Amino acid sequence: MSALPLTEYRRALLDRLERTASEYTNISPENGAFLHLMVHATGARRVVEVGTSNGYSAIYFGMALETVGGRLVSLEKDPERADLARRYIEEAGLSDVVEVRVGDALELLNALEGEWDMAFLDAEKREYRRYAEAVLPRLRAGGLLLADDTQSLRHLMPDFVEWAYASPDVEACDISIDDGLLLCWKRSE
Ligand SMILES: C[S@@+](CC[C@H](N)C(=O)[O-])C[C@H]1O[C@@H](n2cnc3c(N)ncnc32)[C@H](O)[C@@H]1O
Repeated sequence: MSALPLTEYRRALLDRLERTASEYTNISPENGAFLHLMVHATGARRVVEVGTSNGYSAIYFGMALETVGGRLVSLEKDPERADLARRYIEEAGLSDVVEVRVGDALELLNALEGEWDMAFLDAEKREYRRYAEAVLPRLRAGGLLLADDTQSLRHLMPDFVEWAYASPDVEACDISIDDGLLLCWKRSE
């Protein structure tokens, strides 16, 4: 049973997307519920996602951000996937909440405007450290960086994991949910 405030319509859309989850390498429903909860628990309003695919995780973020007047910017290098994501996001009624930007994540991260409350990494695993270093200066103090697949694909990101636990700028914690999430809280000082 889900505690999410899902309309029947959105539940049906997510059910449909879950049938192609392996093709689009989407997060699991449990992970989606966790990200939804994290937005509410941290009071995040401005969230950036690295790796949109077909928009499944973006819909979970969007549902949380919609209720608090927040916004998600999601980055995807594949224009076809980005188009597909925009269509599903529109179907979910979240086009005013979620913006999909097309291009290379590192370039788009370096061009991000303003201060962000949360970042979610779910694109090229070997690039996580570079994504993290690009996004960290744009996160507010006390903001949260979450990285996906950090247990199942940890061997692809040793430099990121080492950075997360050694950096004086963040406090890191592994969460054993689904394929693993690594949470990095940006310190205030
Ligand atoms: C694991 S999927 C994202 C799944 C999505 N977060 C979800 O759960 O619904 C990773 C996506 O990252 C995209 N990607 C890979 N490298 C990228 C890059 N350098 N810049 C932007 N997107 C990238 C891929 O095209 C793919 O669609």
